[in-house]
Amino acid sequence: MALQAVSYRDEYQRSMTEPEKFWLEAAQAVDWVVPPQQGHNKADSPDGRWFADAELNTCYNALDRHVAAGRGAQSALIHDSAMTGRQHSYSYAELTEQVALFAGVLRAQGVGKGDRVLIYLPMIAEAAIAMLATARLGAIHSVVFGGFAASELAVRIRDAAPKVIVTTSGGLEPNRHVEYLPTVHEALAKAGVTELPVILKHRDGFATDPKSLNLKIVDWDTALAAAEPAEPVPVKATDPLYILYTSGTTGAPKGVVRDNGGHAVALLWTIANHYNIGPGDVWWTASDVGWVVGHSYIVYGPLLAGATTLMYEGKPVGTPDAGAFWRVIEQHKVKALFTAPTALRAIRKMDPDAALLENYNIGSLQTLFTAGERLDTDTYHWAGKVLGVPVVDHWWQTETGWAIVGNPRGLEPLPLKAGSPTLPMPGFDLRIVDGMGVEVASGEEGNIVLGLPLPPGTLTTLWNNDQRFLDSYLNTFEGFYLTGDSGYQDDDGYVFVMGRTDDVINVAGHRLSTGAIEQVIGTHPAVAECAVIGVADALKGQKAMGFVVLKSGVVITADDLQKELVALVRREIGPVADFKFTTVVEALPKTRSGKILRKTMRQIADGDDYTVPSTIEDPAVIEALIPVLSGDRPPR
Ligand code: COA
Ligand code: AMP
Repeated sequence: MALQAVSYRDEYQRSMTEPEKFWLEAAQAVDWVVPPQQGHNKADSPDGRWFADAELNTCYNALDRHVAAGRGAQSALIHDSAMTGRQHSYSYAELTEQVALFAGVLRAQGVGKGDRVLIYLPMIAEAAIAMLATARLGAIHSVVFGGFAASELAVRIRDAAPKVIVTTSGGLEPNRHVEYLPTVHEALAKAGVTELPVILKHRDGFATDPKSLNLKIVDWDTALAAAEPAEPVPVKATDPLYILYTSGTTGAPKGVVRDNGGHAVALLWTIANHYNIGPGDVWWTASDVGWVVGHSYIVYGPLLAGATTLMYEGKPVGTPDAGAFWRVIEQHKVKALFTAPTALRAIRKMDPDAALLENYNIGSLQTLFTAGERLDTDTYHWAGKVLGVPVVDHWWQTETGWAIVGNPRGLEPLPLKAGSPTLPMPGFDLRIVDGMGVEVASGEEGNIVLGLPLPPGTLTTLWNNDQRFLDSYLNTFEGFYLTGDSGYQDDDGYVFVMGRTDDVINVAGHRLSTGAIEQVIGTHPAVAECAVIGVADALKGQKAMGFVVLKSGVVITADDLQKELVALVRREIGPVADFKFTTVVEALPKTRSGKILRKTMRQIADGDDYTVPSTIEDPAVIEALIPVLSGDRPPR
């Protein structure tokens, strides 16, 4: 009998009608210490748990088992730094050894199962090593992106209460060296935990002398040389693997919790079925380990699958030019690249006809995947034309850990439509509903929600805050998870994601909270009140713009205020906020109950249709703002 090819429709259907069977089958790709007999279990958490009876070690699955299968000599991780010009490849055997030794270093600092390890590292191989070593001990990592300032780091230290911090001398940005140690020092002081051990990977070329700071430094290299390798510690599938903080609508970041078992199952399913990557393939995610894309697809996904993951320290442009990505693809024979649309727009801006491509042979590249923000149709067509490969958008969030909507290239490549990330992935019961939770007709925009339970690998709760988890995601529409995005489905079911329904914005593929920026601006002595909105930007997708009302009697020039606010946001949140524009206004438009009409402001600034809510307190305020908002409208 001829084998029938499995289609996307069949698999999706099966995941909806027999979810337990579907995911228990997918779970066979994992090497379990205790294999799961149970799929989803309602008990013991706000939204139930997957594989509650099972045990495993994620690091063992990502490393040791490939060595045991005889592939120890295969390249596991290639580190390519466009900043230093250096490259280093680790075989599976070497990476396993380094990780086991570093796990020994962590253990010597008292780290054990369930303890937190905070990792504040740039795109160096040690970031992946530290994450995997933490997982090896059954501990929980919390990686913080290097573009955040001390206050943001302090908030994460306070919330996760780590046993140890892992950091380095600094990171390399094209225009400057970013010193990490002063930031760590300030953050520890702010969090009131100056006695925490700081494991320091020394990097040449940074100015700060560790001895000049009052820190309990453990030198990475010295400790590693003396370390005993640690064996993988079995944990429950439901035990947390990591916490990853992401922006919510308030200033306080949300600590998304990922479990071990569901995560391994889901990533193994996606790397084969969504990305069409298998053992030995070279896979490159051009993102940062500080984001979810980096967690899932620089570190865990490709290594769980036994592929070779490429870790790139550099930018798409300026390091040294807009041919940087093509150089990496040629040199390492990359099969598939995953990046953010903003990176492609940056390349296109510098090299509109991709003339630099002529210098490289990118014949190994089969697919370009994008996510992190909407793939605009111009960029989609441009990238497809210059690269000559399918350009595959997919939509997801830190919370889900993997694609909600995508195009499963390994299962069945579906026809691509510009502007759409394609169809819901197995496990995601996607609906579009209006404000009352009623499903809307196809073509009509509404809230994108997902039926419960969510599939394996999605968030299990928010760290230390089950109630915020419920309030943010589950309590708005009973039985559904609220994504916070709006969109519509066309007659073929293709999903079009249009933007956030809350105060989260997306700048250069980085998720930011306007609330957090407002909180910082509000601390400036001249500011009475302010509103920050995300306005469309041709390069970065959105840019944050602040509208400020001054305290009466304050005398300050607009220029000085802008400079001071830019510096303040940079100091308190970090350069990643990329906050550069402020306008002083007489008043902010509000409803009678005092809610600032940010959405209307954004719609006016973007040149979209808008309706001023009838609850507006004073229509004259918005009238006065229209020229200010629309006058500075950036090109779309
Ligand atoms: N550490 C310290 N500073 C950082 C940083 C880091 N890890 N990452 C960014 N910054 C700084 C930048 O140097 C810049 O500082 P500046 O204001 O002094 O110039 C600022 O933060 C804003 O950075 P960014 O918005 O990234 O702008 P950019 O001009 O440096 O780069 C792109 C623009 C498009 C090339 C870059 O944003 C990019 O590659 N984005 C892809 C994002 C991504 O991978 N997202 C993950 C989802 S897939
Ligand atoms: P993050 O949690 O940082 O990954 O950001 C998630 C948010 O980014 C989503 O809720 C969307 O608003 C946006 N996003 C990510 N990928 C896409 C995409 N492919 N299309 C549209 N929006 C996206």
